[in-house]
Amino acid sequence: MLSNHTIAVIGAGNIGRALIGGLLHGHELDPDQIRATRRDAHALEELQAQFPGIRTGADNTEAAHEATIIVLAIKPQNAAQVIEEIRPHVPAEAMVVSVLAGVTTDALQQAFGQDLAVVRAMPNTPMLVDEGATALAGGRFSQPEHLALARQMFEAVGKVEEVPEYLMDAVTGLSGSGPAYVYMFIEALTDAGVKQGMPRPTAFRLAAQTVFGAAKLVIETGKHPAILRDEVTTPGGTAIAAVAELESHGLRTMLINAVATATARSKELSKLQE
Ligand SMILES: NC(=O)c1ccc[n+]([C@@H]2O[C@H](COP(=O)([O-])OP(=O)(O)OC[C@H]3O[C@@H](n4cnc5c(N)ncnc54)[C@H](OP(=O)(O)O)[C@@H]3O)[C@@H](O)[C@H]2O)c1
Repeated sequence: MLSNHTIAVIGAGNIGRALIGGLLHGHELDPDQIRATRRDAHALEELQAQFPGIRTGADNTEAAHEATIIVLAIKPQNAAQVIEEIRPHVPAEAMVVSVLAGVTTDALQQAFGQDLAVVRAMPNTPMLVDEGATALAGGRFSQPEHLALARQMFEAVGKVEEVPEYLMDAVTGLSGSGPAYVYMFIEALTDAGVKQGMPRPTAFRLAAQTVFGAAKLVIETGKHPAILRDEVTTPGGTAIAAVAELESHGLRTMLINAVATATARSKELSKLQE
């Protein structure tokens, strides 16, 4: 049960803050069960004002020492130094949840130098509005209950999938980086409306809501996207004319190649972190 835990978010930036917000909105934890650290004093004051009752500070060791779940939410380049700092203060029974892109559970295990339960998470930025897509992978010492706790944490900010760790680079290419592709799609659809004479704000709102609504319909009906597409393509109509145009430019191949490129890049970056 998450409600029995004390969580230390080490590096409460964008991702860490979103997680704290979700945990508090969802009443998963009381504010005094949350510790949050970062170095910037002004940002710490803002954090305290945003989430009254949580304990904020720059002292990672104190936060780690008091926690039963330690969330590593610093940037990967700060990880080695932070782990070195907190390592002697991590309680043996604590669990580590890492959102560090490209850092494997084995690498974390080695850095901590003890048989800690480590769960790796790859969230995405829509978690800022509680609509994240997060993949979780357990390390060699993590048990089902550790994955269940991590699931409960990230379900406070969206949907969760458990995957074997070797798929984490593909997750980074698909859902981790995916919001960027969707933003491009919305921007392009907006331009398309403007080209047809629509005021830009109107085109933008229609484009964004169309993406949101279509995604919601896929998720809520569980229907295959091809079936939903067939339902809007009247024979000889407008949608099929546009679909044929998109197919002729290879939209599907373009996305498959984009995700393959991002996955390969994630693998390259992971090697650099080792
Ligand atoms: N953004 C994404 O889409 C995304 C998706 C999946 C995973 N991730 C992963 O999530 C992690 C965080 O990303 P983010 O976008 O939230 O970055 P961010 O906003 O820069 O947050 C990182 C935070 O770490 C703090 N920090 C740095 N050094 C520290 C230290 N020694 N002790 C304590 N705090 C320290 C920084 O604050 P101060 O400068 O005040 O110390 C900063 O607020 C990264 O590892 C990234 O790989 C991000």
